[in-house]
Formats: sequence, C-alpha cells, structure tokens
Amino acid sequence: MLTTEFPGCRKLIDAIDAAVAKGSTPAITDSLRNSLCKLIRGHEVELPACVFEPAEGRYARRELYRSDDHGYCVVAMTWAPGQGTPIHDHCGMWCVEGVWSGALEVVQYERMADDGDHYRFQPVGSIQAGPGSAGSLIPPHEYHTIRNPSDDTVAVSLHIYSGNMTHCAIFQPLPGELGYRRHDRQLGLDPVH
Ligand SMILES: [Fe+2]
Repeated sequence: MLTTEFPGCRKLIDAIDAAVAKGSTPAITDSLRNSLCKLIRGHEVELPACVFEPAEGRYARRELYRSDDHGYCVVAMTWAPGQGTPIHDHCGMWCVEGVWSGALEVVQYERMADDGDHYRFQPVGSIQAGPGSAGSLIPPHEYHTIRNPSDDTVAVSLHIYSGNMTHCAIFQPLPGELGYRRHDRQLGLDPVH
C-alpha cells in the first residue's frame, strides 16, 4: 500500500520485492543495501516533497509504503541539524537504512552483561554516511544511535524494516556512569502529503 505516488515509486518497490524474495536475512539485507545505493545514486526516484520538511524538536518519520505481500515497511526520516536518537533497538527486525541527502552519523553499540536492572553498552564502531550509502542491521546486533552532525543541512534517510515497527526500546543514560535504563517508545508517524 503506497501512502502517496511519487516518481520512481514502482522502481523502488520492485527492487525491494526482488530483494526480499532472496530468503535468508543476510541475503535480503545485502541485496537491499546494493539496490538502495544504486537507486539513490541513479536519481530516478524522487521522494515526495514533504519528506524534506523537518519537524520541530524531533526527527520526522513518514511511512511511504507497506507491503501487503511481504510485510515490510518503507519509512522516510528527516533530520534537522543536530537531531538524533538515543540508543535504541529495532524490536528484533532487520533493517536497511540509506542516506538520501545530507549526512548521518551512525554509532553501533554492543550490549554488555546487565548490571542489575541497568543495561550496559559499548560503542563498537561509527560511520558518517553520505548520500547514496546504506547500511543494514541484523538482530541481535541492532543497538545504535543516528544523528545529523551538520550545523546547517537537513538530512533525509530511507529505512526499510522487515515489518511494521510501531514501538522500540530506547536506552537513556543514568547519571554517574551507572549504565542505561530501558524505556518503551511508541513510534509515531508524520503525515505524507
Ligand atoms: Fe534505528
């Protein structure tokens, strides 16, 4: 189900459908990552104009497509300068994320042994990704932050999730290096117009 038509939307959906037919999660995410990079660099897909409008005080999420046949969801995210996420998971879903415009800093974390009801994480790598680059996350290696490090440029990214992610866990740091506390976060959607 398409939220709205946009130039090249069929090409995008066909490429994702072809990737998800691959079977195993690593094969799907490898294929999707390659397809997404090619599609972004090929400039044949034009995302709806609203996707380039940031929201006040938080990043914007706009669902562009949900597959009735395969269950996956395509969500565009818009990041004003400095906007980002806390450490979060993806509710056990695989995800492929591509940078459409601007740049994003992604830091991956490995979950360490818990300390009572406190969670512990260790950063295990970070990248700054520009337009036409894409990465994938396969649980349980799914903990990360995303942030737009720019002072003046909005960033847009496209996220393909294996299912409909309506909530996830976020992890807020406790004072005094005591680790992190887990919270459930409902994920809202901004209108597509
Ligand atoms: Fe994420």
